[in-house]
Amino acid sequence: MASLKPTGSLADALVIEGERWVDGPPHELFKELRSECPVHWSEQIPEFPEERGYWSVTRAEDIASVSRDWETYSSELGGVTAVSDSVFPIELARAMFIGMDPPKHDRLKALFQRGFTPRRIAEHEESIRAITVGVLDRLEGREHFDLVTDVAQPVVSRVIGSFMGIPPEDDAIWARLMNTTLGAGDPDINPEGIQTVMERDIPEIFARCSRLIAERREHPTDDLTSVLVHAEIDGEQLAEHELVMGFFLLVAAGNDSTKATYCSGMRALIENSDQRALLLDDPSLVTGAVEESLRMFPAFAHFRRTATRDTELGGCPIAKGDKVIMWYASSNRDESRHADPDRFDITRTEEHQAFGAGGRHFCLGTALARLELRVLFEETLARYPAIELAGAPAQTLSPFINQLRTLPVRLSPAA
Ligand code: HEM
Repeated sequence: MASLKPTGSLADALVIEGERWVDGPPHELFKELRSECPVHWSEQIPEFPEERGYWSVTRAEDIASVSRDWETYSSELGGVTAVSDSVFPIELARAMFIGMDPPKHDRLKALFQRGFTPRRIAEHEESIRAITVGVLDRLEGREHFDLVTDVAQPVVSRVIGSFMGIPPEDDAIWARLMNTTLGAGDPDINPEGIQTVMERDIPEIFARCSRLIAERREHPTDDLTSVLVHAEIDGEQLAEHELVMGFFLLVAAGNDSTKATYCSGMRALIENSDQRALLLDDPSLVTGAVEESLRMFPAFAHFRRTATRDTELGGCPIAKGDKVIMWYASSNRDESRHADPDRFDITRTEEHQAFGAGGRHFCLGTALARLELRVLFEETLARYPAIELAGAPAQTLSPFINQLRTLPVRLSPAA
């Protein structure tokens, strides 16, 4: 059994420390933790000295135990990210159903589930393909472009925009607001600092949202904003801040995560030419490429819970009120589930935890994300089978969102 008391640098390691995350999740550290100290205590978050320490859960099995036991590990008590009160104060984080515990969580989520089943989502394939083809058409004639900003962003923004009833001309504004809010800690995305996001962007999100909500109150449609506005939980409608945050949750989740996975997956296909050749040879492997991209590059490196009582996990004493971080970036490379886990292999078939580990908060958007990713891979590779890197990709600096902020590419002459 692994020792529960690491010594030396591992004992003192702070998993969340800006420097470690410059090139994405610290996979070497996670590997050591999985093997020597799978449930690990970090004393503090240097960038947020007022925050308490936290437990890092790094193995898939332990994460599944936490995720499935909402009575012991609450989403509501302290928020769902490592830093409780960052861009959004905790009261607002609790107004999203991702930040609620049952029964309210279940009732609110149920309102959306019908529209997100694989069968209902499959009805959108044609329109998602049309959006993707339209975005790629606009790049015709260019030799260089950025897969993040020129392809992924406009596609995912329009797809979630159409679900939410956002007019297309506002897509770029919403994309900017989501990027600065979720990437608030990255000085390249947000040079003015977190304070500016709180003072400038959050009020803009509220103002824009309130306008849309007022319109839907007057004129209901069949979009998701209307579902929120007219939702009744135990005979009561949602409060204004719950509507705004519900809208934010769906737009943020839809905007960011699919974009992240597509870009990291494309980078891996470019860098692993054997895997790209396999896929080009046998296009039916595209679902394998989607799942492998989700596994290796989970769009959210972590989600967090807070212990509601004293308990034990992997032999470690978890005290009531402790923060417990589920590191999907680690569990998706857990050697007990994935052989040679750092190898990008589109023929794998094991389950991963990119969408969560099976609990109440399992991702609502799995079918939509999988469909968007499949269409994006299919259309990009059909048009640009020999696409190459044209510069250094750069990662967003964040221990939460795991994504590239730039991926410069070139169409090689062979294309
Ligand atoms: C590659 C794409 C995506 C990934 C990797 C992803 C990942 C996740 C994860 C890990 C969670 C669980 C959080 C937890 O355990 O606390 C989650 C929840 C959620 N996701 Fe996704 N997601 C993706 C795409 C989407 C899309 C397209 C939508 C559509 C709107 C969406 C909507 C949501 C919502 C609403 C929740 C909260 C569910 C709940 O609290 O019950 N996601 N997602």
